[in-house]
Amino acid sequence: MSARWYRLCLAADVPPGALLGRTIGDSGEAHDRVCVASGADGEVVAMLDRCPHRDVALSGGVVHGSTVVCPGHFWRFDLASGERTDLPRHAVTLYPTRLVDGWIEALVPDPAPPVPMREWLLGQARDRTT
Ligand code: FES
Repeated sequence: MSARWYRLCLAADVPPGALLGRTIGDSGEAHDRVCVASGADGEVVAMLDRCPHRDVALSGGVVHGSTVVCPGHFWRFDLASGERTDLPRHAVTLYPTRLVDGWIEALVPDPAPPVPMREWLLGQARDRTT
């Protein structure tokens, strides 16, 4: 799978404790949404702007210390690992993030090609029988 670096915002746009939502494409799909989070100590992380629980934008939540709190049902995710703090099998999708000339950039994978419904259903059936 290939990936591209996207320039998201200036570092000054995301002070410690802030969240910022950005759109990097025009498909209208969730993979075009990126959330930039700055922890209380100033570390900056970019992630898919979609809670792993439901299709809720994490950028509408809040940063609490080194976690981001989803506005949907208040699950907390660690900014370093992406994992839900009390149930690590749920995690947000973190992207490699870098600072270039004062800009925050994220390495976002290209979306996977769509899977035909028949193949998806067969895959689900296989998963349930193994
Ligand atoms: S939608 Fe995020 S915790 Fe439920």
